[in-house]
Amino acid sequence: MGEQRGSAAASGLEGIVVADTRMSSVDGGRGVLIVGGFEVEALAERVGFEGACGLLWGGELPDAIELGGLRRRLGEARVEAFEALPMEALGLPDAMAALRAVIGRDSMGAAERGDEGAILIVGMIGVAAAAWSRLSRGLRPVAPDPERGHGEDFLRMIQGERPSAASVRGIDAYLTTVIDHGMNASTFTARVVASTGSDLVSAVTAAIGALKGPLHGGAPGPVLDMLDAIGAPEGAGAWLEGELAAGRRIMGMGHRVYRVRDPRAAVLERAIGRLEGESGRHQGRLALARAVEAEAERLLAARHPGRPLRANVEFYTAVLLEALGIPRALFSATFCASRAAGWCAHVEEQRAVGRLIRPSSRYVGPAPVA
Ligand code: COA
Repeated sequence: MGEQRGSAAASGLEGIVVADTRMSSVDGGRGVLIVGGFEVEALAERVGFEGACGLLWGGELPDAIELGGLRRRLGEARVEAFEALPMEALGLPDAMAALRAVIGRDSMGAAERGDEGAILIVGMIGVAAAAWSRLSRGLRPVAPDPERGHGEDFLRMIQGERPSAASVRGIDAYLTTVIDHGMNASTFTARVVASTGSDLVSAVTAAIGALKGPLHGGAPGPVLDMLDAIGAPEGAGAWLEGELAAGRRIMGMGHRVYRVRDPRAAVLERAIGRLEGESGRHQGRLALARAVEAEAERLLAARHPGRPLRANVEFYTAVLLEALGIPRALFSATFCASRAAGWCAHVEEQRAVGRLIRPSSRYVGPAPVA
């Protein structure tokens, strides 16, 4: 059948299955996310970031020895990445543009290093994101400590001091929660590139470009801007109504697949609650976020009665990352620091399929000139 004779699919490819995957399953009706055989709540609670990497890369939960090995190799990858940091790329004013340039530069030769590629890329993204953040604040990058867990070292390299145990739990919960999420736009991008036979670095570079967009990974910074603009719970209604009246979307609300609240929102909300237990500092922010979420949900339900628009992962990402002391300019890059592990797993899986992803389009341009 010629390309031009088919009917156009829904413009966002919704509901179209493009791959079999053992990585994750998103049940948007029930609000259940399974990653490598674990519900996301259990993954964040019991598996942790390095464990989740092992699960996705190796197909099963690493045992204690394997986990130790993975931690060590990730630590070594961070050290190597720090030595190979392409400083000129880190001068870019946007963190995601910098990461795209850093990974595209491939100063560690990850594209040629087989099984080590995923570890090197995850190590490099963590190190480069933290270094970009320090440089953008006029500070010197902090060298990695290979003895630390990946999340702990990430925070340490951003802040220049050892994070508290509660913060380490918080960042690890975040990195674990967002590691993979079905056929999201950046994962699909990575798989399309992998399907052409291209290398891992090219696939990850392209995926970073997809994640950068505000409809995908770029929302948490604007969520915080929104909370700042609203200021106090009683200001939520008027502010949100103004945005909707102006035709703007409420960041952190709505999802392509979920018709209920994104299950990751609850995991992150709980992680913020645990930080509060330690200091009580973030209580006001969390209360404001909850009030804004409730009001946004109410207003969106009134406008779109047939289309549930509830909080997505980005809503509480913003509050959690702020509470962890991560600058908002680094929010999308922090998302990337985790999701890159998922991309690498999908690239491997797509390679095993071995078939080019090449859909069709319907021609709606002018007829050929006679
Ligand atoms: N605020 C206001 N209106 C929203 C909205 C939001 N956050 N999300 C969706 N809508 C509206 C759309 O404008 C559309 O209205 P219309 O039918 O009058 O044109 C309707 O709800 C259906 O939305 P649709 O565009 O089909 O949703 P989608 O599946 O394409 O979009 C998102 C999903 C995530 C891109 C969308 O909800 C959004 O832009 N959210 C804000 C950005 C965000 O938080 N991104 C992070 C995602 S994890």
